[in-house]
Amino acid sequence: MEYYLGVDLGTSSLKILAATSEGQILGQTSCSFSIISTQANYSEENPKDWLEAFDQALYEILQKFPSIRENLASISFSGQMHSLVLLDKSGEPLRNAILWNDTRTSLEVKELMDTQLDHLLKVEKNIALEGFTLPKILWIRKHEPDLWANTWKFMLPKDYLIYYLTGKTYTDCSDASGTIMYDIKQHHWDQELLDQLEIDVKKCPAILKSTDSAGDLKEEIKVKFGITSHVDVVMGGADNACGALGNITDRNKQGLISVGTSGVVLVYTEPENQTTGKYHYFNSALSEFDYKMGVTLAAGYSLDWFKQIFAPTESYEGLTSLAQTSPVGSNNMLFLPYLFGERSPYFNPELLGGFIGFKSYHKRSDIVRSVFEGIAFSLRNVYENMGLNGDTIEKFRITGGVVKNEFWLQMFADIFNKEIEVLELDEGPAFGALICGIMGVTGKESADIWTQYNRVKRSYFPNGETHTSYQNTFDRFIDQSECCNKIQN
Ligand code: XUL
Repeated sequence: MEYYLGVDLGTSSLKILAATSEGQILGQTSCSFSIISTQANYSEENPKDWLEAFDQALYEILQKFPSIRENLASISFSGQMHSLVLLDKSGEPLRNAILWNDTRTSLEVKELMDTQLDHLLKVEKNIALEGFTLPKILWIRKHEPDLWANTWKFMLPKDYLIYYLTGKTYTDCSDASGTIMYDIKQHHWDQELLDQLEIDVKKCPAILKSTDSAGDLKEEIKVKFGITSHVDVVMGGADNACGALGNITDRNKQGLISVGTSGVVLVYTEPENQTTGKYHYFNSALSEFDYKMGVTLAAGYSLDWFKQIFAPTESYEGLTSLAQTSPVGSNNMLFLPYLFGERSPYFNPELLGGFIGFKSYHKRSDIVRSVFEGIAFSLRNVYENMGLNGDTIEKFRITGGVVKNEFWLQMFADIFNKEIEVLELDEGPAFGALICGIMGVTGKESADIWTQYNRVKRSYFPNGETHTSYQNTFDRFIDQSECCNKIQN
């Protein structure tokens, strides 16, 4: 029997998921680390903290399942996207990583949008955003020029872990996409853009597929952990690409909704020539397919925020029961979840959240229900703006904190008017990373690997009448959002 490890390097913790070649998920370990924020809009992490978290989580999983040491076949990765790591010639990080949720780069984004928008939409297939890697590089070059001069390679977070384990500097197509200096169609760095911006391509890591091996696990790491087998370190991909791989088995008919702190709607697509800039468009972890996704920044966060401010002593179960006593449409109460501005489809950091439509007859239950509805409406708005010509999506698989809440799951089915499936194994991107690692060493198809480890646990079917009732409120949600977007621009 062989063993595989899937590692997810998230924004607040690192998780390792262990599986056997016999289709059994053994368990997982995780270790957290902290965001460093020295001023408003700054969000950084020390890359060395990721290595420590990896060591700790690996140590614990090997303690729990000692036989992994003799028969580990592959380790593969999923990672937070876009965050910038800079390495000097000796492979040491030159500074803290600047994270995807750091928004210091507004000026650089404006410059890119003013001068490169057409090119970015055509080649990178995305607009420039504060979170993406290229604006961060331009910021570093302007504000810390010596440091940029001393940069040997820039890396994405999971690639730095792979460098630690193999001594090789690679990234994969899905993570290269999130830099917006990469030709999404031709799968290489965008030399024309790099030339225009005077960025030396030698500072960019070479690009592999998500299922390619970056190399063998270094001898010193094997000795440190008592691992005796030959281990392939397989690239894996961006967390959203791995999330797609870990959840979707029929790329034409299924989409993914994820509701954690932020919310994501994601669908696979055949390579497209034209994008509208209203959604993100990246290479997936499967080389023939791309994916489109959109983000609601404050999804689960809106509910947490509401509870903390207005109902700190109430449980989530209590809030859910209260919401259920209000009718579909919350008696015309609307909640706009733009607590952090919004990404898709407005891409407007100034957009404000709000409750709209108070009347004297409103009860507390209407306000609570409107929060649940507003988050689901926002994700449907993301979906409607994905430019899906002849939408073939029949059902969504859903992941994140939402899977514990049956009332909310049914609401998603009714608002989207699609079947919603919850999976037995809800390990998100770590499961996608594991699949990449298994594909990399066995050559098996992703869907076959998926069915070996996972299955559908429950389905929620839309009720046509309820969907029609929601539609009215959804239309008002869109009108109000667009109106606010115009005013707050
Ligand atoms: C995607 C994005 C986030 C990060 C979080 O564009 O910024 O989902 O990948 O890890």
